[in-house]
Amino acid sequence: MNIYSYICIVKKISKTERKKCMNEIAIPVIMAVAVGLMLLLSKVLWDLNAANRIIEDNPTQFDRFNRSHAFLKEAKYWVFLPMLLASAAFGMWWIYAQETIYVQLAQRKAQALAQFDTSKIWAAPDPLSIAEETDVKLIQYGRDLIARTSDYLGKEGIVKPISNGMNCQNCHLDGASKPFGNNYSAVAATYPKFRPRSGTAETIAKRVNDCFQRSLNGQPLDSNSREMKAITAYIRWLGQAVPKGKTPKGAGLLKLPFLPRAANPDSGRVVFVAKCQSCHGADGQGLPMPEGNGRRYPPLWGANSYNEAAGLYRVSTFAGYVKANMPLGATYENPQLTDAEAWDVAAFVNSQPRPKHPFLATDFPNIAKKPFDHPFAPFADSFPEMQHKLGPFQPIVDFYKGK
Ligand code: HEC
Ligand code: HEC
Repeated sequence: MNIYSYICIVKKISKTERKKCMNEIAIPVIMAVAVGLMLLLSKVLWDLNAANRIIEDNPTQFDRFNRSHAFLKEAKYWVFLPMLLASAAFGMWWIYAQETIYVQLAQRKAQALAQFDTSKIWAAPDPLSIAEETDVKLIQYGRDLIARTSDYLGKEGIVKPISNGMNCQNCHLDGASKPFGNNYSAVAATYPKFRPRSGTAETIAKRVNDCFQRSLNGQPLDSNSREMKAITAYIRWLGQAVPKGKTPKGAGLLKLPFLPRAANPDSGRVVFVAKCQSCHGADGQGLPMPEGNGRRYPPLWGANSYNEAAGLYRVSTFAGYVKANMPLGATYENPQLTDAEAWDVAAFVNSQPRPKHPFLATDFPNIAKKPFDHPFAPFADSFPEMQHKLGPFQPIVDFYKGK
């Protein structure tokens, strides 16, 4: 590697700029090599001419040498020159092809940035345009950690075994890029933010660790670890087009209208059997991967599922998630459950056993800030715990509105 391309690599520049830098260097290098080859060829022909003069004085060797010499003389025009031209043309084409790829990537990134429009449902930037960023590897690693958390950080994770074998992507669909699929579109723009659950202003890293400790029933990541840096870099990349403080349409989860009654776990069981158990299993344990690590279908309850402190343990969150995303293939535009089915199946799944709440004593320092469906007493109202768990919720919301 020459000193110039070394300069391109050590510079902290985007991939496109790096390519441009390398290409600017590639042109003089190719020219220099071409000139070098020409000089070499003339030197060979020069030597052959000299040899030829000696051989002419030695008639016995004359014929053989002269034939090969004649060939080389001809070859100068018919072989070497076209070869030289072809390699120069290839070099130019290669440079051009590289340029077009990176120009396209730059266009996609520009599109992603121009895309933000509060009147439209948010669309994630094209993952191909990650190549445009300065920290490509970190962002790609973050994306992979979201999709394959279990391989890296699950029970037999190659980095560290700190979580329950689920992937972030099990709940944050398509790398957290799906509209109403629990995406991260608003995260970069709205954190750090105050959250009543902790009673503090939370950073993105703290929020990520919340999901590790609750949704993945595990341990937090060190905020200086490469894994945390990668996840937050990916989250920032995903939300790059969203202006500070804004929440795009389609962010997070769908909010379903309340039922006039309590959600019913018995009706929910019927929905579960008809529409969920084919994948998640009659025992709700999903289906392990044939290779053993991680699961093809994630569990809905039991020891390997989210714990009682997780967002999904609230029936409104679960119902909103399921309505726009389950059975697999459903979208907010093409839901496959009625609102009542979504609420009831949420009530059924969240009535099954799962790991206990590890933070009951410290969550919601101000109990009046508990969400209407936070299912653990004490409350700043007199509705029973069961009504907070399953509803009807409108009276609870009305009570707090009056305050
Ligand atoms: C069992 C399901 C589940 C899993 C697995 C999960 N999460 Fe979450 N996550 C949620 C829910 C539910 C919310 C809250 C959504 C809401 O209330 O709108 C959430 C919220 C978040 C938020 C904040 C979103 C916002 O807009 O404020 C981040 C960031 C996040 N999760 C990151 C992660 C990461 C990183 C992982 C993997 C380590 C992960 N989550 C795994 C269910 C899950
Ligand atoms: C065709 C198979 C299939 C069906 C049917 C299905 N799911 Fe899922 N479900 C999945 C897969 C796969 C995931 C993980 C998605 C991913 O990782 O991309 C998932 C994830 C989930 C999650 C979040 C992760 C977890 O395990 O907590 C919940 C909750 C869920 N499904 C509930 C349901 C409910 C309720 C139904 C029935 C209404 C249902 N699913 C029907 C395949 C299915």
